[in-house]
Amino acid sequence: MPSSVLVTGGAGYIGSVTVELLAGSGRRVVVLDDLSKGHREAIPADVPLVVGSAGDSELVSTLLREHEVDSVIHFAAKSLVGESMEKPGDYYEANVVHGARLLEAMEAAGVRKIVFSSSAGVYGEPESVPIGETHRTEPVNVYGDTKLAFEKILRWRAGASDLGFVSLRYFNAAGATERCGEDHDPETHLIPIALKVAQGKLPKLTVFGDDYETPDGTCIRDYIDVRDLANAHILALDALDSGRSGVYNLGNGEGWSVLNVIDTVERVTGKTLPREMGERREGDPAKLVASSALAESELGWKATHPELADMVEAAWSWLVDHPEGYAA
Ligand code: UFG
Repeated sequence: MPSSVLVTGGAGYIGSVTVELLAGSGRRVVVLDDLSKGHREAIPADVPLVVGSAGDSELVSTLLREHEVDSVIHFAAKSLVGESMEKPGDYYEANVVHGARLLEAMEAAGVRKIVFSSSAGVYGEPESVPIGETHRTEPVNVYGDTKLAFEKILRWRAGASDLGFVSLRYFNAAGATERCGEDHDPETHLIPIALKVAQGKLPKLTVFGDDYETPDGTCIRDYIDVRDLANAHILALDALDSGRSGVYNLGNGEGWSVLNVIDTVERVTGKTLPREMGERREGDPAKLVASSALAESELGWKATHPELADMVEAAWSWLVDHPEGYAA
């Protein structure tokens, strides 16, 4: 029997698209998810789902053995920036302590390859854009700090053992596949909120600040298609198989402002989005744009859906098919 890939947090947004791609490429996959944010319906019927926490050493040890796991993709995490500032303890527990326990269980079971779901949040306020991997890492929120802390654990452990790791620092994920889309509760991200306004489920959208030093005064972000993100995880597994470890940014290298995003959503959906200008949101850098040159040269990764309109189109189609999200 071929070995499996364990995907923690595989019922979440980016995790489920990665599971879909992995299963489609013929790999054996097993998902571990506590379903606190993820959706059972997001997992294909023929992929086993174990409900539980990555920090539950006994459970993880058993499933590594029973499913003959030889590599792990670790998505399971808390990921709301605002909440992380209010409940830092919960974030260090879920994102660092549970991760460290997962690594212990992997070591005990002889599983030596891990792909980690990291974030552009590790950089903090950028000194310059596009941001490369050698840019200073000085997170400005607890969420980013927990991602950086776990990357450090990976680095030190890899230096002291035969652990191989690839850490993928995502910029702003967007879009959907036919099966899997973005369904958060509460929803805090710009594109899904704009689409909810287009659906008529929210009355209006608030633009968080229009006095930034950007051409239209609103924040600029680098949106990357979730299908391209998922594909990077498969390439990362291949890299680990050939003995390569590393840290890679994943973005398009292009920035879109909040107003650009709203215009695009209006164009794709054919709806006018009522909006109001609001205060700046705490902790928002003016401009985050990635250089993904390293992922391109070392992992052979390339964005195949670089257009924001394609991502919005895919997310809108998923919502048209799933007007209530996975609940429908
Ligand atoms: N925004 C609004 N109105 C809203 C929601 C968002 O104006 O109702 C603005 C934000 O202020 C920001 C931009 O839209 O300027 C994008 O905000 P998101 O919440 O969609 O995404 P973030 O850039 O804050 O965060 C995302 C991930 C983080 C990750 C970060 C790295 O959610 O996990 O990208 O770039 F760390």
